Amino acid sequence: MKLTRAVAGAAVLSLCVLLAVQPAAAAAAGGNVEGTVREEVQKAIKADPGVGPALIRLVFHDCWVNGCDGSVLLDTTPSNSSSGVEKAAANNIGLRGFELIDAIKAKLGDAVSCADIVVLAGRDAAAILSRGRITYALKTGRRDGVVSSAAAADATLPQSTFEVSQLKGNFAKKNFTTEELVVLSGAHAVGVSHLSSFKDRLNAATATPIDPSYAAALARDVEALKGQQNTTDPTERFNIRDMDAGFRNASGFDATGVNTTAVGVLDNSFYHATLQNMVLLKSDWVLRTDGEASGSLSDFRDDAAKWEAEFAAAMVKLSNLPAEGTRFEIRKSCRSTN
Ligand code: HEM
Ligand SMILES: *[C@@H]1O[C@H](CO)[C@@H](O)[C@H](O)[C@H]1NC(C)=O
Ligand SMILES: *[C@@H]1O[C@H](CO)[C@@H](O)[C@H](O)[C@H]1NC(C)=O
Ligand SMILES: *[C@@H]1O[C@H](CO)[C@@H](O)[C@H](O)[C@H]1NC(C)=O
Ligand SMILES: *[C@@H]1O[C@H](CO)[C@@H](O)[C@H](O)[C@H]1NC(C)=O
Ligand SMILES: *[C@@H]1O[C@H](CO)[C@@H](O)[C@H](O)[C@H]1NC(C)=O
Repeated sequence: MKLTRAVAGAAVLSLCVLLAVQPAAAAAAGGNVEGTVREEVQKAIKADPGVGPALIRLVFHDCWVNGCDGSVLLDTTPSNSSSGVEKAAANNIGLRGFELIDAIKAKLGDAVSCADIVVLAGRDAAAILSRGRITYALKTGRRDGVVSSAAAADATLPQSTFEVSQLKGNFAKKNFTTEELVVLSGAHAVGVSHLSSFKDRLNAATATPIDPSYAAALARDVEALKGQQNTTDPTERFNIRDMDAGFRNASGFDATGVNTTAVGVLDNSFYHATLQNMVLLKSDWVLRTDGEASGSLSDFRDDAAKWEAEFAAAMVKLSNLPAEGTRFEIRKSCRSTN
């Protein structure tokens, strides 16, 4: 099943519509710094819609490892850990958006930390991708760390093959509840995943329950993507909503309550897909296996506004995770310490 041009076109079109209806809440927030970040994020998403999901993920991957300190942006540190910087971590596969962070930094200069830029840009991406439904205020004043370790990132970030107990434990370590785990997993309504991150779900020997018609459609699509992307590890769209109608029909996806024309939009469609066993990652599917988590899954499926409000609150909590280092600075370049 090929992703048609029409679908790709629809994605771009719907994002242009999103950009045109920027919410007053977002537009009113903050001074020059916030305005500059928002403008750059808008421009970048218009040029490449994939940047939006990338920015939301960057917040998680920066703040989860040593707190929000811009450590995920570093290419080099004064004492490179032998495992490499965070970017080199296996769990950071596919991380992107760094050029945009550099471009924003170039506009803002020394006055603003890279750590602040990451959380502000992620906030703006969430507002744009949700068509203004997810907005939140953030304090600034974060400082940049000088340590970045791939081993630390691999030890700290959750993996797509985790069981639900491991996911809950991973979030509890950061004082995040099971409900917040379920809320934030809804970010997988947007963006892409490498095949290597979900291939376990397509292998009968290792698969966690997955809808068989969906799995068959996915396997066919992945084969086509290998050719299109000329790689054995292509990236696939997370959300069945964003697949073409042929794919959705073949999967037997019940789109009741899902806006299937809202391609690329950050909404509660993740919960509709998860509860139909039509998600890519095992770590998404296993939320169904926990009593508490599965209750939240259906709550958020049935109440989009509740999910949006809780997602915003959880992003604020994430963006405020305190930096854990002992030496800080405002970096001149986000890619290296001063
Ligand atoms: C709960 C545990 C989580 C696991 C195990 C997980 C795992 C993953 C994996 C494996 C990918 C695909 C990487 C690749 O193969 O290219 C991914 C992508 C992504 N994740 Fe998560 N994730 C989790 C939580 C989160 C959270 C809390 C957020 C943000 C609030 C988030 C936002 C995203 C986004 C937006 C993408 C797509 C990025 C892009 O298109 O560039 N994830 N995640
Ligand atoms: C750290 O690693 C990067 C990338 O491999 C390299 O360019 C840089 O020179 C290294 N820095 C030190 C201090 O070893
Ligand atoms: C832990 O999370 C709860 C709920 O979000 C919050 O009220 C509390 O202040 C947090 N505690 C710490 C130590 O961060
Ligand atoms: C596909 O990838 C291979 C290996 O990376 C490369 O040698 C080849 O030139 C690529 N083919 C096309 C059409 O890009
Ligand atoms: C998908 O199914 C619907 C309803 O059965 C049908 O109207 C539509 O033509 C189908 N689309 C494709 C591309 O198969
Ligand atoms: C569904 O999404 C489309 C495209 O983004 C949008 O124009 C439309 O208003 C949405 N419909 C509803 C009911 O939200």
